[in-house]
Amino acid sequence: MENIRNAGFDELLAMCGGCLSCATCHVYVEQLPSSANLPVSSIDETELLEGSDYRRENSRLSCQIPFDETLSGIVIGIAPED
Ligand code: FES
Repeated sequence: MENIRNAGFDELLAMCGGCLSCATCHVYVEQLPSSANLPVSSIDETELLEGSDYRRENSRLSCQIPFDETLSGIVIGIAPED
């Protein structure tokens, strides 16, 4: 989430600053590098995503994806605002 915001994508509101309470950091993981694994969604993340009209199978809350070099090349899309 911070990388997206730091890159200037203001469409990603991330209103709670990563406290897992707003779901305004909703993204679609479109492509994942072959060596990368995302952490499994927590129950809280899943519950927040269930409240979105735009949830897809590849939905994640970007604030819950810790970034490291294995994610270099990840392709994401920003979900529409609910
Ligand atoms: S920034 Fe609020 S849930 Fe991710």
